[in-house]
Amino acid sequence: MRIISGSARGARLAPVPPGVRPTADRVRESLFNALGQFFDGGAVLDLYAGTGALGIEALSRGMERATFVEKNGRAAATILENLRRTRLEDQAEVVRGDAARALERLRENGRQFNLIFLDPPYRIAATEVEGVLSHLGVLLAPDGRVVVERGDAPEEVLRGEKGVTRRYGGTVVTVFDRFEFMMNIAVCPGSFDPITVGHLDVIRRASGVFDHVVVAVGGNRIKNPKLSPADRARLIEKVTGDLDNVSVEVMEGLLVEFARERGAGVILKGLRAVSDFNSEFEQAQLNQTLDPEVETMFIMASAKHSFLSSSAVREIAGYGGDVSEFIPGEILDTVVKAYSGTQPDAQRRIKTESKG
Ligand code: PNS
Repeated sequence: MRIISGSARGARLAPVPPGVRPTADRVRESLFNALGQFFDGGAVLDLYAGTGALGIEALSRGMERATFVEKNGRAAATILENLRRTRLEDQAEVVRGDAARALERLRENGRQFNLIFLDPPYRIAATEVEGVLSHLGVLLAPDGRVVVERGDAPEEVLRGEKGVTRRYGGTVVTVFDRFEFMMNIAVCPGSFDPITVGHLDVIRRASGVFDHVVVAVGGNRIKNPKLSPADRARLIEKVTGDLDNVSVEVMEGLLVEFARERGAGVILKGLRAVSDFNSEFEQAQLNQTLDPEVETMFIMASAKHSFLSSSAVREIAGYGGDVSEFIPGEILDTVVKAYSGTQPDAQRRIKTESKG
């Protein structure tokens, strides 16, 4: 095996260690030609790196930095040897370990890559590859691309029908653009104190538009909350259980950071009436200033929910009123129990009645 083009052109790579399936020179050449003039600076991530030939070829062709992730110790040693042979060791780091864990760490460190190679051993199931792919969006720089290499005639279709797939002899290569990772995840944030049928309607409609919706439960600064963020999240999980592409999480910090960490390109909110507009406009503009790459979008509330709000529910339940029209049936009891008798007048009335 040799480096095909660039500063290390012609360099012979170390023998392939047992158990590693290298990308043949011929396939590598066609693949890099198909990627075109893409290698001016920037960082490359080579996952399941094997001999490191893909990442090293990218460095040789002009990329600035490379991170190689490889679990197999002998393969990791081969990558280091190949970096030495090509005199590219100063531009590279080799992470020895599991791809999923390495991705988590790279994400925590806010790393971004212009090119990501994913060349998993053929024995790895498509579901694992999908799992790794679903975490790559956040690691991709704005013009980034992901290249996935797979064995002969894979039956599975990755990420639906997206990407451009080419066949090189017995190898199938799919190239994904960044937008194919970013735009299909939306974050639906709110205090959800408590979740109403109006919120649920917005989440349900969003789940029909996006590949995945993350409901982010914020509002940690609510004073004297009747339900903790974790409790509110559990209630949302209960009422969205039938929506496979909806997950629920507690959000601790800034919304744009939460969105970025989840690989979401969209913050999605429900808009009820003109009275919502000022505050939503302000939040959308603040979030856009904080991160111009995360877009805020709105779904208009259904007419029958346009009057409904969590604060109205808290007030009505607080006075012991009937909120069954406003709260999903599965969680009604819990909500009534948590919020009933919380209004000062209701407390007084309860005390007076119990005295009498
Ligand atoms: O249901 P709410 O009360 O309108 O939800 C408000 C929420 C949770 C969306 C908002 O407070 C929020 O985004 N909190 C995270 C902190 C943050 O990012 N603040 C800056 C943008 S306004």
